[in-house]
Amino acid sequence: MRSKAICLALLCVLFASHIYTPIPGNIEERWKVIALDAAVKTCTFMGMCFENLGIMSFEDFISMIFRLDYTQPLSDEYVTVTDTAFTDIPVRLYLPKRKSETPRRAVIYFHGGAYCLGSFKQRAFDILNRWTANKLDAVVVGVDYRLAPQHRFPAQFEDSIAAVKFFLQDKILTKYGVDPMRICISGDSSGGNLAAAVTQEVQNDLEIKHKIKVQALLYPHLQIIDSNTPSHRENEHGVALTRDVAIKFLSLYITEDKTFPQALKRNQHMPLESRHLFKFVNWSTLLPKKHRKDYVYTEPILGRTSYSLPSLMDIRMSPLLANDSQLQNLPSTYVITCQYDILRDDGLMYVSRLQNAGVQVAHEHIEDGIHGALSYMTSPLYLHLGLRISDLYISWLDKNL
Ligand SMILES: *[C@@H]1O[C@H](CO)[C@@H](O)[C@H](O)[C@H]1NC(C)=O
Ligand SMILES: *[C@@H]1O[C@H](CO)[C@@H](O)[C@H](O)[C@H]1NC(C)=O
Repeated sequence: MRSKAICLALLCVLFASHIYTPIPGNIEERWKVIALDAAVKTCTFMGMCFENLGIMSFEDFISMIFRLDYTQPLSDEYVTVTDTAFTDIPVRLYLPKRKSETPRRAVIYFHGGAYCLGSFKQRAFDILNRWTANKLDAVVVGVDYRLAPQHRFPAQFEDSIAAVKFFLQDKILTKYGVDPMRICISGDSSGGNLAAAVTQEVQNDLEIKHKIKVQALLYPHLQIIDSNTPSHRENEHGVALTRDVAIKFLSLYITEDKTFPQALKRNQHMPLESRHLFKFVNWSTLLPKKHRKDYVYTEPILGRTSYSLPSLMDIRMSPLLANDSQLQNLPSTYVITCQYDILRDDGLMYVSRLQNAGVQVAHEHIEDGIHGALSYMTSPLYLHLGLRISDLYISWLDKNL
């Protein structure tokens, strides 16, 4: 009893000590955001402590917290929900119950979670996918790919593309009553990366018969080669997602080398032979003036470290590295970026690159947006922002898919 009280007291002190992040003035539901940020930072701090004490790894601790929020596949009045597998990739299927005269639209959704965390089972994603199925009268598939650090790149991509290829077979589309001409791939954050990479692969692979009609990328992560964009600098201590935590998870995705996070943090992780790739992420030309502000672009520092990591130059890890002829085949694209997000400039640069390549792009910039907003759509700390973003996303799909 006494130890519980001490733990609780400690937790309160920790929580209180994290209520210091300056929250930008235009953010709505200020106190909820402050509480959310303090809760996330308290968990981060505890995770770091446990890791340093050798009790458990940081990612295991955070992953344990995520799992508290997992749901069972529960059907409702409108949608039949089942957990199944495509080949051996776990998926959650949402099939509308209404009778349909014609084949339905379909959405394949990749959840976020920094490549290390999460599932389609999280309450927020379950709600989002259920709403999408219901409002669009569409078949929705949530995909669970293998997670780092147990499985590093490209396991996440391989699972994602395998699930999509399985779904795109004629016999499977027929089985679920899906119109092959009206399929969307979506994802948020790291899931937005997988959605972008898988869409590139599907559109450019001549052996895949059915193509994607639209892709929706929600505050996506799209490149690993430049970790010093203006949004990285502005949001170093960002709400809910700090640069240190992002770098920690990204590093776990890429390598077990313990020196890598420091190199990534200093933006000195790329090899000499990667110079030709930087034109694809040159934010001094690709960002609108409004976001470039007065930041000074400096040429990358290459070859400081010599990681033999081909993944660093792989377009499946950094979809922004695709050249213009690879981008030209991409379908109509919806991108949401959030102002207070270290990944903001990834999304903004992809919008410019796609537009330059002649791809149709609809871009929504959320001026008071924070990273991961869709994950905060459930109690106790649900944010109106999450609902707003999910409404924008679903309405866009309804008109364009
Ligand atoms: C980036 O763009 C600037 C022009 O804004 C140019 O001077 C610089 O050489 C470019 N760097 C790379 C690596 O593309
Ligand atoms: C784009 O990349 C593809 C695949 O690496 C390559 O085959 C093609 O020649 C490149 N196109 C241009 C214009 O560089």
